[in-house]
Amino acid sequence: MVGDTILQDKLNKQQRTWLITGVAGFIGSNLLEALLLFGQKVVGLDNFSTGKQKNLDAVQSSVGPEAWSCFRFHKGDIRDLDDCRAACKGVDFVLHQAALGSVPRSIEDPILTNQSNIDGFLNMLVAARDAKVKRFVYAASSSTYGDHPGLPKVEDQIGRPLSPYAVTKYVNELYADVFARTYGMESIGLRYFNVFGKRQDPEGAYAAVIPKWMGQLLRKEAPVVNGDGETSRDFCYIDNVVQANCLSALSTESSAVNRVYNIAFGERTSLNELFASIRAGVAASLPEVQTIEPHYGPERAGDVRHSLADISLARKYLGYAPEVDVKKGMEMTVKWYVENLG
Ligand SMILES: NC(=O)c1ccc[n+]([C@@H]2O[C@H](COP(=O)([O-])OP(=O)(O)OC[C@H]3O[C@@H](n4cnc5c(N)ncnc54)[C@H](O)[C@@H]3O)[C@@H](O)[C@H]2O)c1
Repeated sequence: MVGDTILQDKLNKQQRTWLITGVAGFIGSNLLEALLLFGQKVVGLDNFSTGKQKNLDAVQSSVGPEAWSCFRFHKGDIRDLDDCRAACKGVDFVLHQAALGSVPRSIEDPILTNQSNIDGFLNMLVAARDAKVKRFVYAASSSTYGDHPGLPKVEDQIGRPLSPYAVTKYVNELYADVFARTYGMESIGLRYFNVFGKRQDPEGAYAAVIPKWMGQLLRKEAPVVNGDGETSRDFCYIDNVVQANCLSALSTESSAVNRVYNIAFGERTSLNELFASIRAGVAASLPEVQTIEPHYGPERAGDVRHSLADISLARKYLGYAPEVDVKKGMEMTVKWYVENLG
């Protein structure tokens, strides 16, 4: 964390117990680090399907032994209701991140994606409801906008999903809404838009674009741009996402609860601009990279052409105020990848 001024005040007041599912993954491990540094107690659940022990090890060395002693880890699977129940015991807030990400993965194996993202999600809702957690905050996705052409994206105008992954994330919202109305549960869904930052996995067929290109440039390989490079995304630095999760759990405004919010920075960057900025960042420590040009390939199935968030709802109800823009976030991210992969 860059020392989030908004959170410091809210979190330092009282120690609570948080459950982070998907704690060994990119977003989960960053949430863990921030909460432990803010003196909170954390329970983590992960099956290491895409998450890594080394992410937990990195948090352990970053927070030090005292904060680390406030963390309890369950190796388990959200597809198993008993694992979910064990993890939810004594928890105040759930930050549910565990899911299989990636649109292409879901197109290749929709059943596996459905099992983790819908069956697993439902297990977590049931376990959280029965454990009487105060609030269930969950990772939704900008993919829910599907083929709706409007820009910027506003929460109540969605189109048809373009992939099995997008279906699963939309079903999460439907289930959370039904659990609010049927069982009086409090939940908040955060539609993340292309999150980036340290510990995002650069390897494998389903890596996200920023870590993938970082890894390739650090190996002096030319990345592939899907399409003409004018596809655009609202890239959001991880610390802003951490802020949104904590604000969602802690909000005392009843009007803020049982809604979904766009979580992004609110700025559009094309893939060509993104490539230029990653290359310039990496070239600062590896000058020969400056001459590498990308290859251009076909568009990817299930991808939307442009994505840009209207974040005014999160600003209004949650007090969300993203502190790190894409430029600053990219500087910190490049530095981390150069130090850790270079
Ligand atoms: N990164 C993004 O840009 C982005 C954008 C939109 C939504 N999201 C959502 O945010 C969440 C976190 O994404 P991430 O980028 O950190 O991905 P990640 O793959 O790094 O983390 C997901 C974690 O969930 C764990 N997991 C998966 N299936 C599990 C299961 N059945 N039981 C227990 N643990 C399981 C994985 O091992 C991993 O540690 C996901 O729900 C994802 O769909 C991410």
